[in-house]
Amino acid sequence: MAKLFAFTITIIALFSVSPSSASFVDDDGGIEVHNSNQREFDYFVLALQWPGTYCRRTQKCCKTNGCCRSSGAPQHFTIHGLWADYNDGGWPACCSNDSFDMNEISTLEKALYEYWPTLSCGSTSTCHGSKGSFYAHEWEKHGTCSASVTGDEYNYFLTTLNIYFKYNVTEVLREAGYVPSNSEKYPLGGVITAIENAFHTTPSISCSKGAIQEIHLCFYKDFKPRDCATRGVKTEINLSKSSCPKYVSLPEYVSSGRLTKGETFSQLRPDVASQ
Ligand SMILES: *[C@@H]1O[C@H](CO)[C@@H](O)[C@H](O)[C@H]1NC(C)=O
Ligand SMILES: *[C@@H]1O[C@H](CO)[C@@H](O)[C@H](O)[C@H]1NC(C)=O
Ligand SMILES: *[C@@H]1O[C@H](CO)[C@@H](O)[C@H](O)[C@H]1NC(C)=O
Repeated sequence: MAKLFAFTITIIALFSVSPSSASFVDDDGGIEVHNSNQREFDYFVLALQWPGTYCRRTQKCCKTNGCCRSSGAPQHFTIHGLWADYNDGGWPACCSNDSFDMNEISTLEKALYEYWPTLSCGSTSTCHGSKGSFYAHEWEKHGTCSASVTGDEYNYFLTTLNIYFKYNVTEVLREAGYVPSNSEKYPLGGVITAIENAFHTTPSISCSKGAIQEIHLCFYKDFKPRDCATRGVKTEINLSKSSCPKYVSLPEYVSSGRLTKGETFSQLRPDVASQ
């Protein structure tokens, strides 16, 4: 605990010297705007995912898959990405030719393993007609588009971690009594209210089979919280339009197994991890 605290302080200290940039997103409705049509983005979305829900879909285990850890399982909301977004519901994607380089973020490896784990095997689309890791996708597709604020690749990841540390959704829900459970259901309105009370902003929440899958927090470009309301149908603050039922679950993490200890940090080294 003391160690984590010290680490957090370090991150914050670093951040205050080098404000950085962030980027944009994913698979979330809206229109992806590429290349020459991109204009400066309007706001940020910090997308968080709940491993307990996400990992229920796991069919394949590999060393990179955070859903398969037998120890050190994520017991908190983890980062999906920090996305640059437009008020009209679209978002810029692939805003530079900058390719992802794992070496640039090697000093953040522990934090990424803990708070920004890959939750699947396999590669995902990147920007130059190829595929890459989860991190490559987040940086190239989204991170490059908020470079005016979040800077280079390293600072994009660092900034995202800092924002995530500052707005601890897991803690807010726990304090409101919404703890991981495979039997309880919680009122969606109560979950939203707990976050509103803590952060003075309305989140957007999506579900899968009645379980909370993602929570999105939105920020102005100076990282002051703002509502996520303008992001199109899926994220409107209209509960009847949410993909969530009125009562939602927050399932406990169940390891998809098959990995043993000692395979931990390999997720950040695709060369080592590929089987
Ligand atoms: C990306 O590279 C192409 C080809 O080298 C170049 O024409 C284009 O201007 C570059 N785009 C950016 C955003 O740097
Ligand atoms: C957020 O809060 C949870 C629950 O209190 C805690 O386990 C976790 O370490 C916190 N996350 C960060 C990044 O401080
Ligand atoms: C919420 O969505 C329902 C169903 O689409 C619609 O009838 C209702 O008018 C909406 N409410 C608001 C405040 O937009």
